[in-house]
Amino acid sequence: MRGPRLTRDDVTPERLWLNRRQIIAAMGAGTALGTAGLPARAQALEPNTWEEITTYNNYYEFGTGKDEPAENAGAMQTSPWTVTVNGLVDRPGEYALEDLIGDLPTEERIYRFRCVEAWSMVIPWNGFELRTLLEKVGVQDGARYVAFETAAIPEVMPALAYPILDWPYREGLRLDEAMHPLTIMATGIYGKPIPNQNGAPMRLVVPWKYGFKSIKSIVRISLVDEEPHATWKVSGPSEYGFYANVNPNVDHPRWSQASERVIGAGLFGGRQDTLMFNGYADEVAHLYEGMDLSVNY
Ligand code: MTE
Repeated sequence: MRGPRLTRDDVTPERLWLNRRQIIAAMGAGTALGTAGLPARAQALEPNTWEEITTYNNYYEFGTGKDEPAENAGAMQTSPWTVTVNGLVDRPGEYALEDLIGDLPTEERIYRFRCVEAWSMVIPWNGFELRTLLEKVGVQDGARYVAFETAAIPEVMPALAYPILDWPYREGLRLDEAMHPLTIMATGIYGKPIPNQNGAPMRLVVPWKYGFKSIKSIVRISLVDEEPHATWKVSGPSEYGFYANVNPNVDHPRWSQASERVIGAGLFGGRQDTLMFNGYADEVAHLYEGMDLSVNY
């Protein structure tokens, strides 16, 4: 006679199972999705093409049109590149990029990417976990947030001449968000160096947040004790919050966030429902326990 039916929990040691779940999550397929009606590419998290990822961009320093970053960003010199690390850190300094990140373990992460403008892509990034960089420079007690700043190079960034945003572009994360294993610094796409229009030589990627948090071409990383200046929040505090977690239930004042246009899925049928935390709820929802996400949007 056979014994009782085994469940997956019985046959898989929990540590391995968690590990496996984390790996799948990192691959972007972590949540049980109701896939009916989704375009095939969303079900399988099939990445967008190189062409789509590198020609439909937001990088306002190079112009507000989606095609302008690809047209204009080529003039930016990204080597040599210096990153200032300061604030509440053990090893502050002005680091040559390769000295700062050259020894950090890199890997590919295929992530959903959801812009606040209600479009989305799937992008195969190459990069390293931000926490490895923070551990390397030594975060001091008292640090509660990480602030980031983009290069401001007027000679090659035509839009800096206009007060479109409060330049230089700045963003920030709470320290626990920054230390989360899903939070990466990207230096490549599809195994190639990241193109300038996507934020060369190093940009942040926080897959459960709207894309504007994922600041490009970073020249400064500061460990601070107060919520840092965040460019979009300053430009329109009623429209863009500090947290900016993808949330289908909290609409932007001027448009719904309940669904999104899937870039590359064609003109017809290219919409899908937006997922809470962009599909990464299992991994990150605990970070916001007890917070009212309609207030902290
Ligand atoms: N970083 C800088 N410095 N300037 C920007 O205009 N745009 C943000 C973010 N990072 C932006 C930025 C927005 S709104 C989005 S949606 C993403 O970059 C777009 O990233 P992608 O062009 O690689 O898709």
